[in-house]
Amino acid sequence: MDDELAAKIEELLDLTAGDSTLPEGFTLENIARGLNGALHVPQLRYMGSAFLRILLMCSRRAGKTWGIGGRYAYRSVATPGGNRAYIALTKDQAREIMWEPIWKPLCAAWGLCSPNDHNETRMVTTFPNGSRVRFTGSDDLRHIATELGAALDEATVDESQDQPSDVLKALATKILPPALGNRGVLTLSGVYPEVHAGYYWNRREVDAWEKHYFSMFDNPHYPEPQTVVANFLRENPNLTIDSPIVQRDYYGNPVYDESATAYRYHSARMTYTPESSERMQLGPFRCTWARQPAGCDRVIVGIDQAQRRDRFAMVGHTWDHVRKDKLYQLFEAVTEPGADPTESDWLEVCKEARRRYGGSMESWSSPP
Ligand SMILES: Nc1ncnc2c1ncn2[C@@H]1O[C@H](COP(=O)(O)OP(=O)(O)OP(=O)(O)O)[C@@H](O)[C@H]1O
Ligand SMILES: [Mg+2]
Repeated sequence: MDDELAAKIEELLDLTAGDSTLPEGFTLENIARGLNGALHVPQLRYMGSAFLRILLMCSRRAGKTWGIGGRYAYRSVATPGGNRAYIALTKDQAREIMWEPIWKPLCAAWGLCSPNDHNETRMVTTFPNGSRVRFTGSDDLRHIATELGAALDEATVDESQDQPSDVLKALATKILPPALGNRGVLTLSGVYPEVHAGYYWNRREVDAWEKHYFSMFDNPHYPEPQTVVANFLRENPNLTIDSPIVQRDYYGNPVYDESATAYRYHSARMTYTPESSERMQLGPFRCTWARQPAGCDRVIVGIDQAQRRDRFAMVGHTWDHVRKDKLYQLFEAVTEPGADPTESDWLEVCKEARRRYGGSMESWSSPP
């Protein structure tokens, strides 16, 4: 181990040193050392993090869920009256991956509470100092919002790669923030998502999020990961050590095979930002007009007549009909929900589209 790494570990250990009000030897360091005494350095770094937004994007068996359990147990016991939530996909999954195999054994091993302090049906632990930890699923969003109404010190979404992106985004940006306030910690944890897109994946690019990337090979409590990979490859002869799924799930490397996904989606290549665009209001329509990309020579317009209480929309797409590529959204004109555009409002949008992109629009110039 080089000196710099040793100094960093020393600093981390000082930061997370013991406290006399805690059970003998109950420190984050000792939690990360587990039974075999080997220090899981990246897990300790996560458990001791003071960031308010934390991303764990790791391989399988890296020690994520253990780290979450250790962090929650330590903080709950160290500071009375805490309120924390652990969110899996469903309540049953939370029971299966955290409550039974990790949480209750961890509390028992350190004598943090009595078995009666665990409410089995509600899956809530109330420690003698009043701190509470709840275990639930994101499938029960309404319940989460009402149950967690009180101030939350911390919320963690595990298996984030399997959470629908809109659910995760709603949790992270709308549902949890009022309870988390200015000081609550939000962690998104999981393995690499199948497609490199979506709210969870995109946290990698956001500075406010502290990132933790580690793998089963960094987990000193997971015996012989190399053998585990070898066995997996033997059972799956179509895969090699370089296969993206092996690289992601076993080695924790962000490797993607575009042909493997249903949409062959590659965010960098497929996300298009127009050279320039212009916004304007035309009657009840909020319009965004992009400059047509070079090479695109066809335009198609879709009209969504919508329901009364929904919004009305007109959307244009363009593409290069010779090379049959570059299918891009070119413009959109949308109303607020509940608007009631007149025939002449629709025609104004058609006229503006024709002025900008030309072509014959007779076939769709009669409004719905
Ligand atoms: N601090 C620790 N002390 C003892 N054992 C640990 C510790 N951290 C991890 N482990 C062991 O390592 C293994 C993987 O840990 P964990 O379940 O936390 O990984 P994970 O990253 O959540 O994996 P998965 O992606 O499969 O859910 C488990 O068998 C667990 O017992
Ligand atoms: Mg886990």
